[in-house]
This record gives sequence, C-alpha cells and structure tokens, in this order.
Amino acid sequence: MGPVIALVPAAGRGVRLGATEPKAFVAVGGRPMLGLAVDGLLATGMIDQVIVMVPAELVDRAVALLPPSPLVRVVVGGVERIDSVRAGLAAAADAGYVLVHDAARALTPPDLIARVIAELRAGHPAVVPVLPVVDTVKSVDRAGTVTGTPDRATLRAVQTPQGFAADLLRTAYATPGIATDDAGLVEQLGVPVRTIPGDPLAFKITTPLDLRLADAVLTAADSSVVGNL
Ligand code: CTP
Ligand code: MG
Repeated sequence: MGPVIALVPAAGRGVRLGATEPKAFVAVGGRPMLGLAVDGLLATGMIDQVIVMVPAELVDRAVALLPPSPLVRVVVGGVERIDSVRAGLAAAADAGYVLVHDAARALTPPDLIARVIAELRAGHPAVVPVLPVVDTVKSVDRAGTVTGTPDRATLRAVQTPQGFAADLLRTAYATPGIATDDAGLVEQLGVPVRTIPGDPLAFKITTPLDLRLADAVLTAADSSVVGNL
C-alpha cells in the first residue's frame, strides 16, 4: 500500500501568538513545538518519513533542532498553509498514505496518530480526529448580527493529524477549491471523510493562553499527573 509520509506544516509566522520568532520554533516546556510534534509522529513507529515545511530562512535551524534521523526531511514552506502542504506533497513522491499534522499541535499523543493510521489501513481514504463543540456556535452577518444557531449536536471541532490515501490528497490539491483544512478539499470531491475521536491534548497552540496551557500540561506530565487530563 506504500509508505506512510507525515507532512508537518511549520512555516507559519505565528501572528496570533505574537512571539519574537515563528510559532513552530517557540519552546514549550523547554523544547520547540516543531521538535515535539516530530517526536510524537516518530514515537508511533508507524511512519516511514516525516517532511517538515518551514520558512526559507529557518531551514538550517529546523535541521539542527530535529532528530538526526534519515526519516526526517526539511523543505521550504509557502505563504499560506495550503502552499506549505503543497510543497510537502511535492516532496512526498512515493507516499501511499499522507498525514498532515500541524507543528502547532505539539502535544498530540502518539496514540491518536496511530489511530488515524489504523483507520487508513482499514481502507478509509480520508480520516480526521474530531471533538464535540463545547460552546454554542452562531452564524453572523457582516454587522455582527446573529443569523442562525446551528445544532451543536451536529458540529465537531477538527484536529490533526488528518490522514489520506496519497492519490486522493494529490487529486484534492490539484482541483480548484477553497477550504480551511485539508479534509475540506477532499470533501469538495465528494469523497466521504471519516471522523474518529480526537484528543484534548491535540489542541492547536494559537494564542499566548494556549502556550501557557501547553507549558502547564508538560510540567504536569513531569509530575505524572497528565494521565488525569
Ligand atoms: N503553517 C504553514 N505555512 C503557512 C502558514 C501556517 O506551514 N504559510 C503552519 C503553521 O506553522 C502551523 C499550522 O500551519 O503549524 C497551523 O497554522 P496556524 O496555527 O494558523 O499557525 P500560524 O499561521 O503560524 O499562526 P497565525 O495564523 O497566528 O499567524
Ligand atoms: Mg495561520
């Protein structure tokens, strides 16, 4: 069925985090997010190659902080996340399956990654981890006036890694469309996307509060209480 290749978008600027350097290079619990995310992927023992996409000027730094493994490659990302994933896909020529996994989800447990791969191997061509939505969600118009309240029971918040049969993701990226995640492009092809239970630890570190939370989680993990989360 071909190798499993993980693409790790890490070329964002981290505007919302507001740190002095791009987000993937910001330390959590003393370690750059990018290193933590790649460690989590490799810890599954189920991934044949990891391709990391970073800003052009940070390639050398990424190589230096990542494990010196023949399984890990660094390539230059793009202006938008979709451009970074495209660059990774171009470097993943022989993939059978592709996982796309944000560096910013640095605390993602290897168990979640393994469950995504298992579903792919079971024959599902597109697999995403999801969690129930805890807040009520509103749609609004341009003025900010509420236009509707979708039934929360039918909504899910989507995490990464998102897993795909490689040919399917390539087709999705070759087809014009607009989506805010990789699965969204696959949905536009009419291919069913399977959901599996996500994990609260796979949250995306986006804001300074998220960074404090991630730091606290890792500190708690040092004292072996993380299992209670
Ligand atoms: N990403 C990327 N290339 C881009 C933009 C984003 O590889 N041009 C990556 C980020 O590095 C991150 C992931 O996509 O690991 C999710 O994006 P997000 O959380 O939005 O990160 P940033 O774009 O860095 O943050 P912000 O939007 O606040 O600037
Ligand atoms: Mg962004």
